[in-house]
Amino acid sequence: MARSHEIFILLWLVNITVSFLYHEDTDSVKQLFQTWKLENGKEYNGIDEEQHRFELFYDNLKNINKLNKMYWGETSFALNKFADMSPSEFQSKILMSNREPPTFENDRYIKGGKGYHLPDSFDWVPKNVVTSVKDQGAAGSCWAFSTIENIEGQWAISGQPLLNLSVEQVVDCDGFEDVPRKNADCGVFGGWPYLAYQYITKAGGLESSRDYRYCSGDTDTKHQENNCLPCPPPGFNSSLCGPAVPYCNMSQSCVAKLDKAKFVKGLKIANWKAIDKVF
Ligand SMILES: *[C@@H]1O[C@H](CO)[C@@H](O)[C@H](O)[C@H]1NC(C)=O
Ligand SMILES: *[C@@H]1O[C@H](CO)[C@@H](O)[C@H](O)[C@H]1NC(C)=O
Ligand SMILES: *[C@@H]1O[C@H](CO)[C@@H](O)[C@H](O)[C@H]1NC(C)=O
Repeated sequence: MARSHEIFILLWLVNITVSFLYHEDTDSVKQLFQTWKLENGKEYNGIDEEQHRFELFYDNLKNINKLNKMYWGETSFALNKFADMSPSEFQSKILMSNREPPTFENDRYIKGGKGYHLPDSFDWVPKNVVTSVKDQGAAGSCWAFSTIENIEGQWAISGQPLLNLSVEQVVDCDGFEDVPRKNADCGVFGGWPYLAYQYITKAGGLESSRDYRYCSGDTDTKHQENNCLPCPPPGFNSSLCGPAVPYCNMSQSCVAKLDKAKFVKGLKIANWKAIDKVF
């Protein structure tokens, strides 16, 4: 008994050491900024932009330290590739504006109400049914990620081994549309989970992400030959989606890459339901 208690405390101590603080003196931050720029391939137009970006970087670094002190041992914060952006710039360039979810026919909803006793909080992560956090890169593919991660969870909860499924398949292949509601799946220009479920139902399955790798967000201005230039999905409706990219690489299209023989065995989507807003 005593021994397992000791082990527990040891592990816990190891765990909390991931919290750390950056040096805040100007020289250290300047040095760190240079390293960070190299690691993140940042190049600025002239000394004024460089200075401006450095100041934002400094502000963000101090804010990270503040948050690390506030949540010490519970969670940790660190610099990432967005560290030279102001919060408002991050919001306008990276985050999407809120959109009202569509409303569906009544029988599409899982209804809450009496008899449901939901816990105040619930976490699927320690149950090992949630895959790791992914980076969608510079592409409007959040709708495909959220759909795929939901299916990954359902697949694991049903007793199958946890598996990364192919987001790129959905981005490349799903051009489903809902004309009455003026919604469509538009590849890297956005889309809707409820339409993605319809695509996956019709397609008959999904490849794993190992077989059909995510590449839509890959842009490398220095090595453009490595860039992913995905083609619009079959059925892309430019009156709902806007104009398609002017150039795409056909060998990176759905037609070239999709291989139904590689669909994960037994994985099919039969139907989908929406969760009521007032559960
Ligand atoms: C899923 O992919 C990530 C890389 O994006 C990897 O770190 C992780 O181990 C994978 N998970 C599984 C269950 O294969
Ligand atoms: C594309 O969307 C428009 C609505 O904006 C619709 O009228 C049209 O039927 C759609 N085209 C196809 C081929 O589905
Ligand atoms: C098109 O994609 C293929 C496969 O990813 C790649 O080998 C080729 O270099 C790309 N072509 C261009 C012009 O980017």
